[in-house]
Amino acid sequence: MQSAASRASCSRVSVCLHLVPALMAVGYPWYLAMFYRLHSTKHIAEALLTLALVFAVPGGAFASLYALGRTETLRFEGVVLRRLTYVTFVSPSLFVILGVFLYLMKVNGKDGQVWVGLWLAALCGTSLTILGHRGEVLPVRSHEHMRPVRVMHGIAALVILLVFLVAHLVNHTFGVIGAEAHREVMLILRIIYRSPFVEPVLLTLFFFQIVSGLVLAESRMGSRQGILDVLQTASGAYLAVFIASHLNAVFVLARYFGTETDYAWATALPDGMLADPWDVRLIPHYALGVWLLFAHIACGLRMVLLAHRVEKRKADAVCWALVLASTLWSAVIIAGAVGARV
Ligand code: HEM
Repeated sequence: MQSAASRASCSRVSVCLHLVPALMAVGYPWYLAMFYRLHSTKHIAEALLTLALVFAVPGGAFASLYALGRTETLRFEGVVLRRLTYVTFVSPSLFVILGVFLYLMKVNGKDGQVWVGLWLAALCGTSLTILGHRGEVLPVRSHEHMRPVRVMHGIAALVILLVFLVAHLVNHTFGVIGAEAHREVMLILRIIYRSPFVEPVLLTLFFFQIVSGLVLAESRMGSRQGILDVLQTASGAYLAVFIASHLNAVFVLARYFGTETDYAWATALPDGMLADPWDVRLIPHYALGVWLLFAHIACGLRMVLLAHRVEKRKADAVCWALVLASTLWSAVIIAGAVGARV
């Protein structure tokens, strides 16, 4: 039988292991900077390796969230670590929103330093909180009582998808044909989503999704989670920050100052996002934003199927198939956004 001392040291080791993704997130701006430098000096193989490092931050966080979600006994440190790891997972969009805020505050060239400061504060706060409560066992919570919020979140999602989001993503698919083709489609779609009746409702629904999504994610913090449950919560957490960051960029950074928010603006044309050390951060931000949106919808559909008593095996298979199919669609959108043309 394991002694109490060895159990304590095991849990110390596992706490340290789960802190690795957050420690890696501290260097996120420098992985992007290395990627930009290596790509612009045509060291493509090395650039791809550093791009892998960029994606290793959310990737490592996802692996850690999966491991944390499988534990039989829910300990206080597990819940605190999960919160930190969700924040780590959303690093790509957090770095964008931080960059825009600093730009608006006219603080230039200090994104990396501010990022490190914020991460050190988060790591310090997490470690101190864990030290104060280490080993405390919590009851594993069910999230069944959140059903009404889940239903409202689902209905709002359906309205957003039908009124705007499917069209918005179809619009971005035209990016691989060219900025002009994208613009022609956008000008037609704008008649609907920019109308004085639709836009305020749409924005209200997006804000509701952020708030209700965070409430739902928090209710899952203390429950056991399989890989698709983690994908659902992690993609939701990502979207909450992505949407806040994207709306801030569209409405505050651009439209408020009279900048036209077209495809050229969003993807830094004519030079492209790969040609500027600031803009390069938009690549993982958009890539994960689009892919995780699809993944989130697929996971939501899985919940609906499960609620209608579809066998878990079948519901999971439908979800994985949708995630796979939507990966292809995301790849086309991202290829267009980074400058690929057909
Ligand atoms: C490659 C990915 C994406 C790009 C390049 C992009 C780009 C843009 C652009 C250029 C606009 C301004 C449109 C206009 O002025 O008419 C916009 C607006 C918007 N986008 Fe995106 N977008 C992307 C993905 C997403 C995703 C995944 C979401 C939601 C989860 C989203 C939500 C919105 C919303 C709510 C607006 C404001 C619409 C309005 O004017 O009322 N976008 N986006």
